[in-house]
Amino acid sequence: MSDATAIVDRSEVPAGGSYRFTAEDAFGNETEVILVPCEDDPGVRAWVNNCTHEDQRLDAGRGAAIRDGEIICPRHGSMFDACSGECDNGEASGTTLPSVDIAVEDGSVLLIDEHYEYRHDGGVNDGDDGPGSTSHISF
Ligand code: FES
Repeated sequence: MSDATAIVDRSEVPAGGSYRFTAEDAFGNETEVILVPCEDDPGVRAWVNNCTHEDQRLDAGRGAAIRDGEIICPRHGSMFDACSGECDNGEASGTTLPSVDIAVEDGSVLLIDEHYEYRHDGGVNDGDDGPGSTSHISF
């Protein structure tokens, strides 16, 4: 089954940062995911928004720090390859960020991972305070 949900326009993924959204996993848990630029096709990757070393968001709300194609953990500075998710330095050395399957079609980034369902843009707690106040999500 291919259930694809449009997340955002590819052009909205910043060249030096990340686009954050929230998805629900198979167990009903909300999980933050970041879209980051990658030189390889299709130009963007999706990773679970958490460092593999400790419970630390890579994008805490202002976009992940990305330099030379690497995502930098804000807590201890380990760097993850934006394309492969691999880390070979610092505290998180030898680990790989959990990936989320996406595709790019007609300029849109689509969530195609059968383990996740798109919930909303922004972080887990951002569902009801968007700037446009047009959210239909209530708690
Ligand atoms: S929490 Fe990311 S390197 Fe330690």
